[in-house]
Amino acid sequence: MTATPSRALANLDGLFSKLASPLPPVQFTGATGARYNMGAGQPDPDSLPKMELIETLEGIFSGPEGNAALMYGDAAGFLGLREVLAAKLKRWEGIDVPASELLIVNGSNHGLAIVAQAFLNVGDTAICEAPTFMGGLRPLRQLQARTHGIPLDEDGMRIDLLEAKLVELRAAGTPAKLVYTIPNFHNPAGVNLSLARRRRLAELADIHDFVILEDDAYGELRFEGDHLPAVYTFATPGRVVRSATFSKILSAGMRVGYLLAPEPVIARLNAMKLDGGASPFTNRLAAGYYARHGDAHVHELIAIYRRKRDALVSGLEAAFADAPDLKPHWRVPNGGFFLWMRLPEGIDSVRVAKEAGDRGVAYVGGPLFFADGSGKEYIRLAWSMLSEEDLGSAARLVAEAIKVAARG
Ligand SMILES: Cc1ncc(COP(=O)(O)O)c(C=O)c1O
Repeated sequence: MTATPSRALANLDGLFSKLASPLPPVQFTGATGARYNMGAGQPDPDSLPKMELIETLEGIFSGPEGNAALMYGDAAGFLGLREVLAAKLKRWEGIDVPASELLIVNGSNHGLAIVAQAFLNVGDTAICEAPTFMGGLRPLRQLQARTHGIPLDEDGMRIDLLEAKLVELRAAGTPAKLVYTIPNFHNPAGVNLSLARRRRLAELADIHDFVILEDDAYGELRFEGDHLPAVYTFATPGRVVRSATFSKILSAGMRVGYLLAPEPVIARLNAMKLDGGASPFTNRLAAGYYARHGDAHVHELIAIYRRKRDALVSGLEAAFADAPDLKPHWRVPNGGFFLWMRLPEGIDSVRVAKEAGDRGVAYVGGPLFFADGSGKEYIRLAWSMLSEEDLGSAARLVAEAIKVAARG
């Protein structure tokens, strides 16, 4: 074998487009090598339904869909999957839509990017929550959107502050075109947007002429309380594009998400997709699996994640029993994957992360979740991946890291 001669890399500085990021690609796995990984919002590894997926695949390959699964398919996604999803929306949320109002995407990260690209020109104004999901911030950053973060409280986005910001932006001649919100089991803050705020947000979209990107990645995973209707259900048709995913209720690796909007909007969003079509293979697998097992599986997951949340929270409560003044502030979420903690004042969060890392614990620090890079006093712990036993140990180690950092 002849060795390839080493050659100097061409200088492409003048060739990269304004949208090409100079930063390294984002690492989605949250892989840190840490013994206790509370970083990524990965699903619980022990509950991935591998046997049922194998059976579903066998059914596909031995039946009439076998070839179609391995060929090009409908850009909008496999019709059978869109029908399964339409039926699920009806059963779970009473949302009655035809399959033609659904667009399958390669995970909801893909969907968020398509919506941002469809509604924002480079440099346009967008609004998100502060904090928000970093995957929702990425397309806004790519489009160099002027992005304003609206603070949250226990009822989700402060709609009074949103309204004030909308008025201010309009007066400045830079009206917001898109408002990105995560109304259920917010990532990272864990809170839900209240019913009254959902209604008001929908009204504001008409008054101030913007589109709402409603990101519902965790809505099914409610541990307590009643389901809150989607902002989508209150808004004038077309004002909301709603995004959802199979990542948290079936498999993140399958990369199946979907957008919901009226047909003319779906047509425009579909035209933005340059991916050669949603995967006919994973779409059939997801549809076949979900039609047979989906709802029962989600109910199992709800019980699993509720126990994990409880293990983390009770572990933290116990670990701070002897040092209540050092206990971070948190609200116990009633669903989803995340606990969002604010460190007591004066504690160096960089030191906490180092001490936690030394003890084998990984989590994500606050600044990644704010458009302006603020929030260093926050940390996000994901309970989704670790076992209940490990969550107890991780809670104790996080508390230890905070106590050591507090001593200076
Ligand atoms: C709020 C939110 N939206 C969207 C996603 C993206 O999920 P996916 O692209 O796997 O569907 C995530 C994943 O962590 C999330 O937390």
